[in-house]
Amino acid sequence: MPSAPFRRLTSCRVCGATEISVFLSLGETPLANAFVRPVAAAAPELRAPLEVMRCLRCGLVQLTVVVDPEVIFRDYAYATSASAPMRGHFDGLAAEIVERFAPAGSFVVEVGSNDGVLLRPLRERGARALGVEPAANLAAIANAEGLETVNEFFGPDVASRLRGERGAAKVVVGNNVLAHIDGLPDVARALDALLDDDGVFVAEVPYLFDLLDHVEYDTVYHEHLSYFHLAPLMTLFAQVGMQLFDVKRVPTHGGSIRMYVGRSARRAETPALTGLVALERSRLADAAAVFGTFAARVAAQRQALRAVLAELRSAGKRLAGYGATAKGNTMLNYCGIGADTLSFIADTTPYKQGLLTPGTHIPVRDESAIDAERPDVMLLLAWNYADAIVRRLDGYVARGGRFIHPIPLPRLIPDR
Ligand code: TYD
Ligand code: ZN
Repeated sequence: MPSAPFRRLTSCRVCGATEISVFLSLGETPLANAFVRPVAAAAPELRAPLEVMRCLRCGLVQLTVVVDPEVIFRDYAYATSASAPMRGHFDGLAAEIVERFAPAGSFVVEVGSNDGVLLRPLRERGARALGVEPAANLAAIANAEGLETVNEFFGPDVASRLRGERGAAKVVVGNNVLAHIDGLPDVARALDALLDDDGVFVAEVPYLFDLLDHVEYDTVYHEHLSYFHLAPLMTLFAQVGMQLFDVKRVPTHGGSIRMYVGRSARRAETPALTGLVALERSRLADAAAVFGTFAARVAAQRQALRAVLAELRSAGKRLAGYGATAKGNTMLNYCGIGADTLSFIADTTPYKQGLLTPGTHIPVRDESAIDAERPDVMLLLAWNYADAIVRRLDGYVARGGRFIHPIPLPRLIPDR
């Protein structure tokens, strides 16, 4: 079984402590977005251990390994604009950024700008927006649409160069990007170099406590190196004299936080931040118990999901999946669910259609397969869009079709 090129961490990526504790192991899994061409189905896939640990000093929850980012991100398949519900989310974010921190004409840099889904509303609202995106295919899509994007990994060198060429940024935005970056102290230094004196870093990350509370263990995959809460982020930014001054919880990706980071002493801490910091502290008073309980809930979810699927199968139900997601691939691989159980997975993303899911080799098909194959139940692997999907597939639901919403424990929706 070939290994993806990876490195094992021996210390925390934020604070450098070597006191770490592994609390969850999901096995050796293929890369979650490495969908397989049918002609390559017999070839072995790259795998790496998928294990989660926490730093006993700063608290950062992180994977035990780092897969070479060149392998994951240089030709990244995930195009944000492909998910319609995200477009509204990004328009709201652009409005907030421009109103609060970036008056018309301000220089705004987005790190990990994907296909330009946020650059577009930023520009429409009057910001001078520039993207930094390591995936060549995505940077090319954005540039072709006139949304200027440099094709690079963000770091201190790029930041200093941009500042020299274009001036200091009023806002740097990072959406779902911090979790992907191994060198977090480098990012903090880069932000320090690029931001104006009164500049602000606005970033969204999936929130650790949503992951824990809703047993969203499937959001663990090799692309997501860190699973954040506030305390370690505060430790990180303090290293460069910056500090979080505000935070907001947002529903994205099963529950995220939007954080606001400025230069220390420039902005007062909001009650929202003070309150969430206090809540985290009380919830983690016995951290070992919290993470031990989480691991037990993950194992229970696996067992329950396998039982539900086995029961439906023996009742003669036709089973499929909906949403060929990265997180779905964690769940399918960890739970051992393959093409003998789900005959296909429907997904609206054109480039995924015709491919097989990594590790489990379930065919991904367009939505017309739902009418052709008439499954009775579909495992909802894009549960973060449950409402939108159930509404959109009204024909399927009207003829009696249902979904298994898999977390925190599997249940059939809609209710009957
Ligand atoms: P996403 O939820 O962003 O998950 P991940 O980060 O785990 O990959 O992926 C959304 C996927 O679901 C994407 O492949 C498109 C698909 N999708 C549909 O097929 N139909 C829909 O109605 C929606 C909202 C998404
Ligand atoms: Zn640490």
